[in-house]
Amino acid sequence: MTRTATLTFGDQTIELPVIEGSEGELGVDISQLRAKTGLITLDPGFGNTGACRSAITYIDGDKGILRYRGIPIEQLAENSNFAETAWLLIYGKLPSQEQLDTFSERLRFHAPLHESFKHHFEGFPVDAPPMATLSAMINTLSCFHPESPEPDEAEFFEEAARLISKVRTIAAYSYRRSMGLPYIYPAPHLHYVANFLHMMFSNPYEQHVASPEVVKALNLILMLHADHEQNCSTSTVRVVGSSKANLFASCAAGVSALWGPLHGGANVAVLEMLESIHRGGISAEQALAQAKDKSSGFRLMGFGHRVYKNFDPRAVILKKAADEVLGSLGVKDPLLDVARRLEQIALEDPYFVERKLYPNVDFYSGIIMRAMGIPTNMFTVIFAIGRMPGWIAHWKEQYDDQAGRIARPRQIYTGNTETDYVAIGKR
Ligand code: SDX
Repeated sequence: MTRTATLTFGDQTIELPVIEGSEGELGVDISQLRAKTGLITLDPGFGNTGACRSAITYIDGDKGILRYRGIPIEQLAENSNFAETAWLLIYGKLPSQEQLDTFSERLRFHAPLHESFKHHFEGFPVDAPPMATLSAMINTLSCFHPESPEPDEAEFFEEAARLISKVRTIAAYSYRRSMGLPYIYPAPHLHYVANFLHMMFSNPYEQHVASPEVVKALNLILMLHADHEQNCSTSTVRVVGSSKANLFASCAAGVSALWGPLHGGANVAVLEMLESIHRGGISAEQALAQAKDKSSGFRLMGFGHRVYKNFDPRAVILKKAADEVLGSLGVKDPLLDVARRLEQIALEDPYFVERKLYPNVDFYSGIIMRAMGIPTNMFTVIFAIGRMPGWIAHWKEQYDDQAGRIARPRQIYTGNTETDYVAIGKR
């Protein structure tokens, strides 16, 4: 028995089906609303609007729950690694040893870039924003690896492995270019994260061997960023993919959306905020006061979330990891103390308590990346590397939906009614 919602407008009453998700979430299916009533809905920012059914990631914002394909993020953080988590998100279950070995081998195989990519990197200014380079170079992959507009399963698998592998190489090369350092080829004997750190920090005369603690910490950061249901950048990937744009083009668009300081760019903004407080630009209390003053235009970066009205479970894990990683690396970072202080006074402040504003994934991640020697302007690039499997999983889920349609929202027009053209001499 399908439950319905009754809508009465004027002399018309219609019943709209109510859809129930596997965790009991309810949604009113309005796909026939305009056809039946001529009405559309209006929901700027889509805070009340579901764009799709999805089986990839579940978030309960009130309880602070995050699960990838049903597995709690805490268990994955404790037991898994980035390659295995990527497979889980894309294919819906944990890989067998054979599947994981095959996937790892394809990630190793696809790590190198076509030599001509170097000419593209050389064409960018050395201070080009890394997210601009990343988005451009992911699109450029389409030029070197023309994708089938309708990939079959085998083609999709290779495209997914190619993108997850090469995004890492592109990121490392853009960093090396920005530092005036030679590009470092991927080392086929290294696993995903160790290979990335090798490409970032080795030199032709000396291989950088990342410590197990750093490899473990970066695996954790990438896993925690791997997916987050219908966030801004993932929704962007779905919208672009809905026009049958290929995987590279869709994920390049996701990079652009992630760049914004309200989204993935927040991890850079958090470090800048913490550094400003530490340098004495402003005190933690002043930062909080500014964040509460709407006229300041300042927000407490790394705080608040559209969905979480409780602790972001990723922030809880990262806060704990920050201690462990900095301790294992023997790094004492005063910004960690500033972050802790800021969190403490914010969580005691009525403004934040009333609005249920808690630290999100971006609040502590930058402190850990900084301790690893990753430059601040690469933080959002690391976020993009982590989010790539989630974008790919959502692109595929939509691609496989036979009933899928091109994304094309409506609007409420508020502009001029019909107006005649006036020749310039009479204006
Ligand atoms: C990510 O969607 C995802 O899943 C994203 C992400 C993912 O994994 O993909 O989780 C990653 O993007 C995390 C968020 C990173 N961004 C930041 O840390 C930037 C700072 N945060 C805010 O800008 C804000 O909290 C957002 C953008 C995250 C959420 O914005 P919403 O849902 O549109 O919330 P809102 O602007 O409607 O805020 C509600 C109220 C407002 O006050 P009132 O008008 O009710 O008086 O809370 C206030 C806001 O002014 N508020 C803040 C605040 N965040 C919200 N006030 C001060 N500082 C903040 N950080």
